[in-house]
Amino acid sequence: MIVVFGSVNLDLVARVPRLPGPGETLQGTSFTTLPGGKGANQALVARRSGATVAMVGAVGRDTFAAPALAGLLAAGVELDGIAAVDHPTGIALIHIDAAGENAITIVAGANAHASASSIRPTHWSRATTMLLQLETPMAEVIAVAQEARGRGIRVVLNAAPMQTLPPALLAVIDVLVVNEHEAAALAIQLKLNVIGDALADALSDLLQITVVQTLGANGACVAAPGLRWHARPPAIEVVDSTGAGDAFTGALAAALDCGAPWPLALTQGVAAGALACGRVGAQTALADHPAIAAFAERVKLAALSPPSS
Ligand code: RIB
Repeated sequence: MIVVFGSVNLDLVARVPRLPGPGETLQGTSFTTLPGGKGANQALVARRSGATVAMVGAVGRDTFAAPALAGLLAAGVELDGIAAVDHPTGIALIHIDAAGENAITIVAGANAHASASSIRPTHWSRATTMLLQLETPMAEVIAVAQEARGRGIRVVLNAAPMQTLPPALLAVIDVLVVNEHEAAALAIQLKLNVIGDALADALSDLLQITVVQTLGANGACVAAPGLRWHARPPAIEVVDSTGAGDAFTGALAAALDCGAPWPLALTQGVAAGALACGRVGAQTALADHPAIAAFAERVKLAALSPPSS
């Protein structure tokens, strides 16, 4: 079973011809509210990919809580680890421009009060993968990762949104998922003088963990001792890239949790991420397993040799 400790948001989504500049008022073309939050998005795609999933986090005692959780409830994600707290449900203000590019502001609200103590004994006893992101308090993320590591549970961290990663957290991760910006920031934090393609290898070498780096339209690569694969999707029309990284991470975690080998897990993650770009919304754009598996057939997989140092 995958336990996701992470954020639950209600996404307030406006489509705009272009992203607004400072002080500018723009006419939007549409507005909708959709369930979101990196934790919840990843939990949903993992569930749709066939995994048993429990979501642990916090929402407010307000009218945003039910719509924020509706997608997870409908999909059969276990929600007994969601605490109701005296703070507003987290929200994300999202602008999406005509090219599918976005600008997102999150207000953590209840997510800032998510607690490791909400993980129940029954979650701990059944968990085989602990999936984490960085929209909940760092101290709680570290506590959850340490406990999971101590129990022999695979720890997958999607280090988004970007922030400094404390050594205590880096020490207990099995799989680190980062995009190009997050990988570059971590390299700077660790004083690694490496850029571009070699980043995943260098981070994996230094940290002695598996590093997965997403590469936008170029797919993703994975690097671990003795292992290096790159998966590239076919070209797609991007309607909205919101949640593409979540779709990738959730599908990847589900595949690993089901025992899939790395090439298959990477391919399915890339397929899920690409499919998520084809529709508006984070959770509303998430595909199910048959669609992901069919699209994965069109993803090009290549085994790479590690770059020479
Ligand atoms: O990764 C996309 C998500 O980031 C959105 O659903 C939004 O809620 C923010 O958390």
